[in-house]
Amino acid sequence: MLLVFTGTASFAQKSEEMAPTPPMGWNTWNIFQTKIDEPLLKSMVDAYVSSGMRDAGYTYFVLDDGWMAMERDKNGQLVADPQKFPNGMKAFADYVHSKGMKFGIYNCAGTKTCAGYPGTRGHEYEDARLYASWGVDYLKFDWCNAEGENAREAYGLMSKALKATGRPIVFSLCEWGTNRPWVWGKDAGQLWRTTGDIGVAFDKPVTKNGWTPLSVLNILDRQDSIRQYAGPGHWNDPDMLEVGNGLTVNEDKAHFSIWCMLAAPLMAGNDLHKMTDQTKNILTNKEAIAIDQDAMGVEGFKYYMFDGLEMLVKPLSKGDLAVLFLNRSERPQTINFDWAAHQIADTTSKTDVDFSKTTFKLRDVWAKKDIGTTQKPLKQPIASHDVVMLRLTKEQYL
Ligand code: GLA
Repeated sequence: MLLVFTGTASFAQKSEEMAPTPPMGWNTWNIFQTKIDEPLLKSMVDAYVSSGMRDAGYTYFVLDDGWMAMERDKNGQLVADPQKFPNGMKAFADYVHSKGMKFGIYNCAGTKTCAGYPGTRGHEYEDARLYASWGVDYLKFDWCNAEGENAREAYGLMSKALKATGRPIVFSLCEWGTNRPWVWGKDAGQLWRTTGDIGVAFDKPVTKNGWTPLSVLNILDRQDSIRQYAGPGHWNDPDMLEVGNGLTVNEDKAHFSIWCMLAAPLMAGNDLHKMTDQTKNILTNKEAIAIDQDAMGVEGFKYYMFDGLEMLVKPLSKGDLAVLFLNRSERPQTINFDWAAHQIADTTSKTDVDFSKTTFKLRDVWAKKDIGTTQKPLKQPIASHDVVMLRLTKEQYL
């Protein structure tokens, strides 16, 4: 009886408990693609800790495509590539856990993964059981080679298989927004990709090897109409971070800030060993992360855009607000924002702020200093592709 009860209790684990705030972690894909193996990744696990990423709140260590052998074994089981992972996947998962992180893995709803490794179609329950036996805590589930499949059903089936294991496994739907997963995704998992893949490009997309992934701004511009679908336990995922992979420092800072404003899952995708101090300072800025991880779980929105200067607003708990000024243009500009002339109303979060009636204190999240209040217009230069990110807190009258 007791066993049955325990199983049921795990089965009933709620999404809100599994991902109350957007999941944070690191994923192999953006920097290494399929060129991964145990020595490299063990060293990444170590760097995850020594760089301060873990202590800044990053939790998951996720292996993306390329971890498997090209064929299932004779019993139909997936196997870790014996050359890349000579000690098997359980040993690697144990290593990740021993350093205080959670372990994530990747597969695909189709017959093969995007890089051509064995997919899960027709093997949902046995794959889920295998992952649970390894101690997997997070599954990213892709959508290549899924011709003829119904996305809602395919993700629903894998979700059931994961739940049936009794182990809480965060389920990350990587269906690229093709079938509007924001409408049905929360019945299956805790996060869903909203677009195709991100590339190392801020503004105009860059073509590499005949493939043109999306830029940071392309992705930002596709989030506004779906923000009402995100919240605690169910997140829009605008894809993993390219911070540290070749954008300028301003662009990296802007990319990270935008993701925080979007309450996006923060999955770093850089080489943790070769991280510059600038990259580290961006990825581990606790004040920016606190905006992403705010308990209310409201995704930000575009409030204002003029001549390439955009302002985003994210309502936060306890009546705070995050405000991001973003210079999308190619030239330096000046922010000149008279708070008192603005009223910010948001039906999704039931926010209604009139700056002519309520004064907020301003904290600059990147400069890490207090810069006055909303009683005075904000006047400040802003470089091309740079941001000014503020946390606004209501002034208390004692
Ligand atoms: C797709 C996904 C990427 C990555 C690759 C792996 O393109 O969207 O995030 O997982 O597959 O092959």
